Amino acid sequence: MIVLIGFMGAGKTTVGRALADRLGLPFVDTDQIIEQAAGLTIAEIFEGYGEPGFRELEARVVTDRLAGPDAVLALGGGAITTETVRRALTGHQVVLLDISLADTLRRIGGDPGRPMLHRPDLAEIFAARAGLYREIASVRLPVAGRSEVDLVESITTWLDDPAALPLDPEPPEAPE
Ligand code: S3P
Repeated sequence: MIVLIGFMGAGKTTVGRALADRLGLPFVDTDQIIEQAAGLTIAEIFEGYGEPGFRELEARVVTDRLAGPDAVLALGGGAITTETVRRALTGHQVVLLDISLADTLRRIGGDPGRPMLHRPDLAEIFAARAGLYREIASVRLPVAGRSEVDLVESITTWLDDPAALPLDPEPPEAPE
């Protein structure tokens, strides 16, 4: 399974869809499956059941899909905060699309459909996840200034030859 992880706005869905097309694999956006399963939008799930309710549903959907047929899977940015998800990712090809918080806010800042974006402790959430993403990722791709086509190209190069791309191509960005 090829799994895309990373903070909100990194392009997991757009890059994932293009990558799946390129590889001839199905594309699965786990947020979409969650919404279909619940019959509610992500924002409505957060409103009705809070973040813990959302995470429970998310963990079930993600672990179920990880055990399913081969695909390109895009996970919601916070999925890796759940331990069962992190454990289930072991052995899969996990690609981190790495974005800075400033770029996330520039790309999707006001989006009402993403409740976590509006948390007052967003900077702390971002910082707490940064280490987790890197711990779990098989490869890390900074997305700043790179097109979707370019990112897909890098991922396929890495899939063909994992030694062709370094795991950590540049030192972590300074906190913003
Ligand atoms: C979340 C990210 C969202 C979605 C939910 C929670 C998060 O997915 O799963 O709103 O906690 O970062 P995207 O990363 O696709 O925006």
